[in-house]
Amino acid sequence: MISGYEPPALPKTHFLDNRIFTDETIFAQEKEEIYQRVWLFVCHESELAAQGDFRTVSVAGKPLILVRAPDGIIRAFYNVCRHRAAPVVREEAGNASEFQCFYHLWTYGLDGACTGITKPSGYDAVQLDRSKLGLISVRCDIIAGLVFVCLSPETEPLEDYIGPIIDAVHEPLSTAPLKVFHYNKAELGANWKLWQDNNSERYHSLLHFINRKTQPWVIAKTSPMKLRLFDNGHSGYWSDGEATVTYEAAGYKDASVGTLPGMRDNEMRVINIFPDLMINIRANVVRLDRMVPIAPGKTLVEWRGLGLAHVPEDVERDRLRHHNMF
Ligand code: FES
Ligand SMILES: [Fe+2]
Repeated sequence: MISGYEPPALPKTHFLDNRIFTDETIFAQEKEEIYQRVWLFVCHESELAAQGDFRTVSVAGKPLILVRAPDGIIRAFYNVCRHRAAPVVREEAGNASEFQCFYHLWTYGLDGACTGITKPSGYDAVQLDRSKLGLISVRCDIIAGLVFVCLSPETEPLEDYIGPIIDAVHEPLSTAPLKVFHYNKAELGANWKLWQDNNSERYHSLLHFINRKTQPWVIAKTSPMKLRLFDNGHSGYWSDGEATVTYEAAGYKDASVGTLPGMRDNEMRVINIFPDLMINIRANVVRLDRMVPIAPGKTLVEWRGLGLAHVPEDVERDRLRHHNMF
């Protein structure tokens, strides 16, 4: 409880102190006690398809490099030069055969090893050991094609952290090659928990009556989708098999072309992996929302459209329209 705060005379479970959305101290605490401890989603594996493909990301305030190393494994490192801490990679994404720091030109291999020091003889007096000066690695693992990192060495393995909610994702995301066909990002003037809360409940669904025409339950005021709660804060909602989306209502004649494995043509699943990932799977489109808290009232959201890697051009067009509608 925040000191000096007098809560209303209600049971503790019946209200939130709204300073959890605005207070700098609470925000710093969340970064340290949640974001620096749990597994966080960073990208889809297809975005790092070839050897040397890299991306830079900010995770819990720390700059990281993700790279497909020569052994085929996606690795994560702090994007901090071991010389004088300059950022080693300054692009958002690309392909490289090695990384070179712009400041004094030290070089690093794709496996993070320090491969070159400028004017090494200058360090003779201190017998500098280059083998100990590789980029510092961060835990990185993949589940259902989703790449996660974890800054803490103590947190349980990714599979245990995510737990059984992965069953709702596994078949559509793991059994056929997928690609990111759309990417967008924006900063929202809202606290990260509002984004998470909004994705975890469907009380706001009536709003979609205005901007979407494909959700029959909105019109019928009923839905076969059920809210499901899991350990570690994960949640989701999906039906037990009943139809959940009527694509024809919005003129999507071929919405089922390219349907993902394990999905029915008219099925929709929403899976929230706490704290930063929302997966929304509909017939042939997956939306991946990654959320990065920047300040108490500022949140970066990245939207990815994911689908089967190989589909005809007209299906690709329809899929993009379908994706942009949600
Ligand atoms: S800080 Fe990177 S080479 Fe000096
Ligand atoms: Fe919504």
